[in-house]
Amino acid sequence: VNGKVVIPVVVNVLYRTAAENISAAQIQSQIDVLNKDFTATNSDFGSIPAEFAGVAANVDITFELTNIVRKSTTKTSWGTRDAMKNSKKGGINPTSPTTTLNIWACKIGNGILGYAQFPGGSLATDGVVIDSFYFGLSSSGSYPYNLGRTASHEVGHWMNLRHIWGDASCGNDLVNDTPIHKTANYGAPTYPYISTCLPTHAEMTMNYMDYTDDRGMYMFTKGQKTRMSALFVSGGARAGF
Ligand code: ARG
Ligand code: ZN
Ligand code: CA
Repeated sequence: VNGKVVIPVVVNVLYRTAAENISAAQIQSQIDVLNKDFTATNSDFGSIPAEFAGVAANVDITFELTNIVRKSTTKTSWGTRDAMKNSKKGGINPTSPTTTLNIWACKIGNGILGYAQFPGGSLATDGVVIDSFYFGLSSSGSYPYNLGRTASHEVGHWMNLRHIWGDASCGNDLVNDTPIHKTANYGAPTYPYISTCLPTHAEMTMNYMDYTDDRGMYMFTKGQKTRMSALFVSGGARAGF
């Protein structure tokens, strides 16, 4: 990349019902959320506790919707094995995955909000999948996952971020400025949420890479930014962007 990272985004919509055929406005609302969350211009950025304010980051990566691809389907749910990314399986093939973030909006099923592929995987399945019901900003219907943060979390994975608890008890997320978490947190914990991992400290439950409600997550850290930004420089796993 030369200069600022701007990620072209293609949204691939697979729909059986009218509700699953989300509108262009709904799709744009999701792009807007990503742009806010990745530039620290989200309206809840100011809620970050003073203890964590010094490591809170403006990731300074933006997103630009370049196309919407739509396809009707008879499938009631798509699961998490990438069928939605393959036209031979009734899905939609990704557009130019070395230079484009592909997002699939479809019914995933099993209560799954979204999933992502880490950098370095197959180009044919590169991108993120977000359940249509949790795609973009919505009022109350999809509460507590109604603020588009499923995509912020999944794009975090797509940019090489691990879960903040390191997917293990008091695990390691490979980021130095995120505190150790015992496990995933849910809901919207009140700060300070004291960890049971030692030494005694508060967990950063408001990080996008936890499992809290959409209203409970509103920051990335500088260490996470470093990890994400490294992908886009020459030699990085997403250097095509
Ligand atoms: N469970 C999903 C994952 O592992 C997403 C969690 C998103 N959380 C949210 N508040 N929207 O990637
Ligand atoms: Zn995750
Ligand atoms: Ca850490």
